[in-house]
Amino acid sequence: MKIAVLAGGLSSERDVSILSGSKIAEALRSKGHKVVLIDIFMGCEEEVCDIDSLFENNYDFTDNAVIGREAPDIEAVRKSRKNRSSDFFGDHVLDICKAADVTFLGLHGGEGEDGSVQAALQLHGIKYTGSDHLGAAIAMHKGVTKGVFLNSNVPTPGSRLYKREFMGEGYLDSWNIFPCVVKPCSAGSSVGVQIVADRESFVAAVGAAFRYDDDVLVEEYVKGREFSVGILGGKALPVIEIIPKSGWYDYENKYQEGATEEVCPAELDPKIAEKMQREAEHAFEMLRLKVYGRVDFLLDQDNRFYCLEANTLPGMTPMSLLPQEAAAAGIPYPELCEKIIELSLKK
Ligand SMILES: Nc1ncnc2c1ncn2[C@@H]1O[C@H](COP(=O)(O)OP(=O)(O)O)[C@@H](O)[C@H]1O
Ligand SMILES: [Mg+2]
Repeated sequence: MKIAVLAGGLSSERDVSILSGSKIAEALRSKGHKVVLIDIFMGCEEEVCDIDSLFENNYDFTDNAVIGREAPDIEAVRKSRKNRSSDFFGDHVLDICKAADVTFLGLHGGEGEDGSVQAALQLHGIKYTGSDHLGAAIAMHKGVTKGVFLNSNVPTPGSRLYKREFMGEGYLDSWNIFPCVVKPCSAGSSVGVQIVADRESFVAAVGAAFRYDDDVLVEEYVKGREFSVGILGGKALPVIEIIPKSGWYDYENKYQEGATEEVCPAELDPKIAEKMQREAEHAFEMLRLKVYGRVDFLLDQDNRFYCLEANTLPGMTPMSLLPQEAAAAGIPYPELCEKIIELSLKK
């Protein structure tokens, strides 16, 4: 097959995406596919006469994949592109996708995960992997996700949504549960997430979160263990436990090698694991997601679990959570990438 793998873009998860995209491209090539890997925003700034020859030559257009301790400087990336137009898609990106049999979304966060790219590709008649634009948009917004969870009985921590436009004297007084977790609604990879213990730090954290987003979700803090459940073809994979060696599962603990221990299958009462898997499938369905994704959970000391969110384009390096879960279910990484394509072409 001719496959375009899209990575990079303008989200705070840009670096992670370039690593996912490179690994996906490498795996698909190992299965004999012709793959062009391209940064969706940077595009191909060289002269391209024959797109087919790019596939024949398995062309790579992205930067080297290196994940720093902190999220990248997106303004610097934006300025570094030669093409100064307001077009999100870089030069030749859509032409390359149109020439492919399918486009694999190796993107994370931002326009790649919020449904914008999905909607644009669909209108261009381009087939792509994963959820459609509606599910992606719902799952990307933590406040909207919360509404779906509450309407469909998915257990989730108590919360409140704050909007920047209403911010003013007394607006935050309605929250009085501490500790709590403050999150920009549409970020990811824990970017902008803060766990706070008192009102003063809460007010500061909400102010900081408004720098990332117009909408901020405040949640009751759940003390306990953290798990995630990957979904493939609507069915749950084995549960994985996430154990940061210090602190909580923030950006650094997510991506610095060795910072977090992952156990899959999780050491968990089989009845609870099974319930969590069914709840993950239910949440996935209610959020209108398709093909694959990952649903995050916390388990408190009384064995009650809470669903935090769903990720429509979860990390896809071989060491990422969902690929580890697939491996535990007997699906090696290259087969997982092919399976995602196969399911996406049928959706
Ligand atoms: N209610 C909560 N109680 C305790 N920890 C939380 C809570 N919500 C989030 N966290 C911590 O913050 C991390 C990021 O939160 P999450 O809602 O999954 O957003 P992101 O999209 O950034 O992954 C979680 O993996 C977890 O470690
Ligand atoms: Mg998460």
